[in-house]
Amino acid sequence: MKKALLIAAALAVTTSASAAGKLEIFSWWSGDEGPALEALVKLYKAKYPTVTVDNATVSGGAGTNAKAVLKTRMLGGTPPDSFQAHAGQELIGTWVVAGRMEDLSSLFKSEGWDKAFPKDLLKLISTNGKPWSVPVNVHRSNVMWYNPAKLKAWGVTVPKTWPEFLKTCTTLKAKGVAAPLVVGENWTQQHLWESVMIGTLGAANWENLWAGKLKFTDPKVVAGFTTFGKVMDCANKDASGLSWQQASDRIIDGTSAFNVMGDWAAGYFTTTKKLAPNTGFGWAAAPGTTKTFVMLADSFGLPKGTKNRAEAINWLKLMGSKAGQDAFNPLKGSIAARIDSDLSKYNTYGKSAAADWKSNKIVGSLVHGAVAPESFMSAFGAVIDQYVSSRNSAGAAAAAQQLAVRAGIGK
Ligand code: GAL
Repeated sequence: MKKALLIAAALAVTTSASAAGKLEIFSWWSGDEGPALEALVKLYKAKYPTVTVDNATVSGGAGTNAKAVLKTRMLGGTPPDSFQAHAGQELIGTWVVAGRMEDLSSLFKSEGWDKAFPKDLLKLISTNGKPWSVPVNVHRSNVMWYNPAKLKAWGVTVPKTWPEFLKTCTTLKAKGVAAPLVVGENWTQQHLWESVMIGTLGAANWENLWAGKLKFTDPKVVAGFTTFGKVMDCANKDASGLSWQQASDRIIDGTSAFNVMGDWAAGYFTTTKKLAPNTGFGWAAAPGTTKTFVMLADSFGLPKGTKNRAEAINWLKLMGSKAGQDAFNPLKGSIAARIDSDLSKYNTYGKSAAADWKSNKIVGSLVHGAVAPESFMSAFGAVIDQYVSSRNSAGAAAAAQQLAVRAGIGK
């Protein structure tokens, strides 16, 4: 018996160590965003000690910079061995339609992933039943963050609707809070827009928008833009110079009362800032979106023609494994994409997100790649920029509708 165990252990070591070589992974998780990925790299190195891992990152929230660098690498014929892309249209509408990605069907089969991930997520990462990337997590985009002690001191509670938010904003301004809401650079404003729109239109109409069944020029959507403008009137004036982390800092130091950001903010508060959920920071669904979970998932794919294919496949295997996901997500602020995750490893925020993921209505995030092709997304930032300076709701809605038609939304 003992001998059999020893042989099995020796075999396991041989298999792990057999993949010698290199691996380059590419993402935008650097600096404050790095610890979760580093934990995964550490696991990889423990399993494949002879492989040198090049953890290549291009910083910039939401991948704004990384996606541009990735494009030059992909088009220049020097793809990284595996790269980060959001599950959904962001990858499918670009590198998958261009024929640059490997079909991962056999990997999903050998790893049993057809059963390990929720059906809707499998659908999101696949075309014609073929999966194109491995989801490492599920993030929630529609979260409003606050500092519990500060709200108490100001005598306000978390607003449940956007009209209520506007009233709270007036109250806070009267108490001397110059910017009740904090926003950062352009993509964080798009992120806010998404929550305001869903909170105004409702989840079903949000889905209709991306199915081409509701036009951007519909009065309901135009009204959503107008509400977004009023919400932006509650925000700081130096937004364009702030990263999402700097915006989050203003909640902690009490400069602003609220911030709408994805739950990577929970990772930042707990992993980087060492704050405790519920005391150091508080959260609620963004106004008007209670019982709706606006989801996105980070995933990694396998480009065709990578230099280190075997090492990349082992990387993907680790990312999709239970051990990999439960090492990564408690640090990241997200929950595992797998359905068999060990929730005892997650803090109160993670546990609450996992419960909402099971019970809420799930819709996809625009800003983080789930519902619209990159051709829409990459141009939508300009619509928001223009709107923020002009406050012309009908004009912005018309511009967005034109983009939607050009991007083939609803076709
Ligand atoms: C999102 C990504 C998150 C987080 C965030 C901020 O797009 O899915 O994992 O990195 O950007 O950069």
